[in-house]
Amino acid sequence: MADFVGAVDQGTTSTRFMIFDHGGNEVARHQLEHEQILPQAGWVEHDPTEIWERTRAVVQSGLNKAGLGAGDLAALGITNQRETAVVWDRRTGRPYHNAIVWQDTRTDRIASALERDGRGDVIRRKAGLPPATYFSGGKVQWLLENVDGLRAAAESGDALFGTIDSWLIWNLTGGTDGGVHVTDVTNASRTMLMDLETLDWDDELLSFFGIPRRMLPAIRPSCDPAGYGTTRADGPLGGEVTLSGALGDQQAATVGQVCFEPGQAKNTYGTGNFLLMNTGTEPVRSEHGLLTTVCYQVGGAKPVYALEGSIAVTGSAVQWLRDQLGIISGAAQSENLARQVPDNGGVYFVPAFSGLFAPYWRSDARGAIVGLSRYNNNAHIARATLEAICYQTRDVVEAMQQDSGVVLDVLRVDGGVTANELCMQIQADILGVPVSRPVVAETTALGAAYAAGMAVGFWKSTEELVRNWNEDRRWLPQWSREQREEGYAGWKKAVARTLDWVD
Ligand code: G3P
Repeated sequence: MADFVGAVDQGTTSTRFMIFDHGGNEVARHQLEHEQILPQAGWVEHDPTEIWERTRAVVQSGLNKAGLGAGDLAALGITNQRETAVVWDRRTGRPYHNAIVWQDTRTDRIASALERDGRGDVIRRKAGLPPATYFSGGKVQWLLENVDGLRAAAESGDALFGTIDSWLIWNLTGGTDGGVHVTDVTNASRTMLMDLETLDWDDELLSFFGIPRRMLPAIRPSCDPAGYGTTRADGPLGGEVTLSGALGDQQAATVGQVCFEPGQAKNTYGTGNFLLMNTGTEPVRSEHGLLTTVCYQVGGAKPVYALEGSIAVTGSAVQWLRDQLGIISGAAQSENLARQVPDNGGVYFVPAFSGLFAPYWRSDARGAIVGLSRYNNNAHIARATLEAICYQTRDVVEAMQQDSGVVLDVLRVDGGVTANELCMQIQADILGVPVSRPVVAETTALGAAYAAGMAVGFWKSTEELVRNWNEDRRWLPQWSREQREEGYAGWKKAVARTLDWVD
C-alpha cells in the first residue's frame, strides 16, 4: 500500500492541500487564497470556478513539493467550509451563480418567516438547527427565486446543488464526464434539509424551501471506501486515487483532534470559532442555543453526533483591527499590543458584526465597544478583542455544559489564533479549565485524511489515531474565581447592549 494520504481543505478564505504519513505527520502542504466577493452589505460570495482552480493548483504544487505522485497516495479526503451553497449545470459544469457563503445574511427574511409560522420548530426537531441565514436551505431557495431559468433546470434535473465538498468531488471525479454527485452526512446536516435520525433528505423540509429533490446529491457516510469514486487520471492528481473520506471542516477538526469519546470537545479558532463536543450515537437536542449536528459516520455504522457552538466572528475581529481600524499591521501584532496592558481597563468589545450566532442566535444584534473612558487606548481595544474571542467561547462552553451535563476538564484547541499565546492564556483564565494545543495544529486536513485513510485500511482503528495525538502546549488558568466571574459578568452586560439594535 502507498505510504501517504492526501487531504484537500477548502476553507472560507483559502484552499490547502496536505499530505500526511502514517504517524499523522505533515509531509507537504500548499495553500492559496481566493477572492471574497462582497456585492453589498451582508452579502458574501465565492466564485466556484476560482475555488476549483485553486484546488487544482494546490494539489499539483503540494505533490510536486513532496516529490510524490498519485501512486504514493493510499486515499484522498475532502474537507470544506460548510453551508456555502453552489448550484451548477450538470451538462456544462458551469455554476449558475457565485456560491453564497455561510456568512451571507441575504436570506434573513426567509429565516424570520420560518420562525414566525412554526416551520422553525419543525426544522429544529428534524434537522437539529435553528432557522438562520447561516445554513444552506435558505440560500438555495434564494437562488431558485432569483436566478433566471434555475427553477426549471432544477426540476428537470439539469441543475445540481451541493456544498463545496460536492462541487469539488464532482469535478475531481469527472465533472461533465460522469462526475459523482454526492455529499457526506456531516455536510448534509448543515443544510436544514436532512433529518438527523433518517440521515436522508426530508420531503417536508424540502417543501419549506421549495427545493426539488432531483437537484440534491446522494448522502454518504463520512468514511466510505466506495462512496466517492476515484479521481480522474487527467485531473490535478495525475492519476486515480480513491476518494474515500469527506467531512465538513469543523467535524474534520474534531476527528483530527481524536475526540472519539462522548464528552470530548475541541474548539477551532479561525474566522469564527467552532466548538464541537462528541455526544455519542444519539443526537442530543439543545435547549441552550447550540446546534445538533452529525460529527462523523464510519461506513454503515451508526453516526456519531455532536453539539456545536458556532461563533461567527473571532479571528475576523482581529482582521478588523488591522483592516478597518488600522491599529495593528498584522494578526501577530495584536498579541504585542494587548500585552502592553495588564487587563482590559474596563473595555469590552462584542464583535456582533452580522448578529450573534450561538448561543444567542440574534440577527438583530450589532457590534459594540463599551466601557470606554479617557484612560483607554489601542492596547485595551486589542486586549478586549482577544477577550471577546475567549468570552464568546465561554458562552458556548456554558451552554454545552448545560445541554450535555458534561463539565469540561480540558479544552483541545486548534486553528490560526492558537498561535497567539496571550489569547490562549486568556482563554484558560476565562474558562477556568486548561487549554491544550496538539503538535499537529492542522487538525482539519488531518481529520479528512484520517477519514479517507480509515476507509481504505491505511489506519486500522481509532486507537491508532489516538496514539498519533501529542500535546504541544498547555495553558493553565491563573485568574482567581472572583476575577473570572467579575470579568464574565461584564461581558454579559456588554452583550445585552448589542441586542435589539436592528429593527
Ligand atoms: O460553518 C462554517 C465553517 O465551516 C467555516 O470554517 O474555517 O472555513 O472559516 P472556516
